[in-house]
Amino acid sequence: MNPFKYGQIVGDAHYCPRLKLEKTIKGHIVSGQNILVEGERRVGKSSLIVHTAARMKGYRMVYIDINQIKTTNDLIARIVNALISLDKQAGVFEKVVKMVSHLRPSLSVDSFSGDPCISFHTNEILPPENVESLLDFIYGEHKNRKSIVVIDEFQDILNLGNSDQVVAMMRSRIQFHSDMAYVFSGSVRNDMDRIFYDPDSPFFKSAIKIEVGPLSREAFSRHIIGSFMTGRRTLENEAVESIYCESGERPGDVQELCNALWSITENDTSLNQADVADALQVVFSREKALYEHSVSGLTSNQLRCLVGVAHLGGKGVQSGGFLKFTGILHASSVKKAIGRLVDLKILYFYKKEYIFNSPFFRTWLKHSNI
Ligand SMILES: Nc1ncnc2c1ncn2[C@@H]1O[C@H](COP(=O)(O)OP(=O)(O)OP(=O)(O)O)[C@@H](O)[C@H]1O
Ligand SMILES: [Mg+2]
Repeated sequence: MNPFKYGQIVGDAHYCPRLKLEKTIKGHIVSGQNILVEGERRVGKSSLIVHTAARMKGYRMVYIDINQIKTTNDLIARIVNALISLDKQAGVFEKVVKMVSHLRPSLSVDSFSGDPCISFHTNEILPPENVESLLDFIYGEHKNRKSIVVIDEFQDILNLGNSDQVVAMMRSRIQFHSDMAYVFSGSVRNDMDRIFYDPDSPFFKSAIKIEVGPLSREAFSRHIIGSFMTGRRTLENEAVESIYCESGERPGDVQELCNALWSITENDTSLNQADVADALQVVFSREKALYEHSVSGLTSNQLRCLVGVAHLGGKGVQSGGFLKFTGILHASSVKKAIGRLVDLKILYFYKKEYIFNSPFFRTWLKHSNI
């Protein structure tokens, strides 16, 4: 079986330990300190949090993923479903269902996990006070059994039409839950910073920030080499270098490339740089349709800028050199086009540089005839 997984939270043998960060997170949770976990996409935030919280003896984790929520109803459903998937036996299920019965929920069974699942089929927007009661309910349970509340992709709270009201209300409840730790995680830095560092935001400075960077090379290399060894496949040093180089060291991208490398090689072999180059082609063929779709929706200036960033990198995009390469006359046009590429989540801005969300997309674009 392919030992490399990507695009999902990893645990057990797929998880490379991050002892220092795990220890820091544990320490904060024990002292009831709320934390904010930030880092780039696919760097391993969710896996780190879930791995750490799930291993804390005497605690249970309420994991609420609010990715892409659009309404308060979605938020309420995510919290309820997190609760009912948590503790079916302990009577929590019945209590939660009773709590939200006035909202006329529909109960179904999740076809993937087999867990019961609640949704609200109503056009009416449910009042945010229900979020308040659910958070209070979790806190009430915390007195019997300690809880850690993880809210993942927290920046998506800003999608709600009434986000100001919901954010303010959540903060006002959370501050009374002082001995129960909330872990907020998100991958859209600007939005997370808006919530936690804007003096006008109710969450201003309400959580300690933990920055998640790439895994240490030493530990991750050992982990990758060990995973290949499960098929008695050895990696030449240049192959390891090449994996890091192509994937920009991001754990999710490293695992994706390794998954492709595994898929095209045999047990009891030694893998070299040429194998990694072949694996990269596999990644391209898996993702080509996505890349082409992204490119097809761009205006001419946006595409020129994207190709420019692919070739020249994302620093100084308003410089003369960048304008010359792209053939765009005005720096203001570049600014506008790049802004749109950020909105489309193809690029993001970090430490004064525009960076491709996917390093593979960048390489593909560089070598395409576009
Ligand atoms: N500790 C780890 N050891 C090995 N691989 C990891 C680790 N953490 C993350 N990964 C790899 O990165 C991928 C993404 O992990 P995860 O979903 O935890 O990241 P994330 O930062 O939460 O991503 P997103 O920004 O998309 O929410 C995993 O599927 C896995 O391939
Ligand atoms: Mg995540």
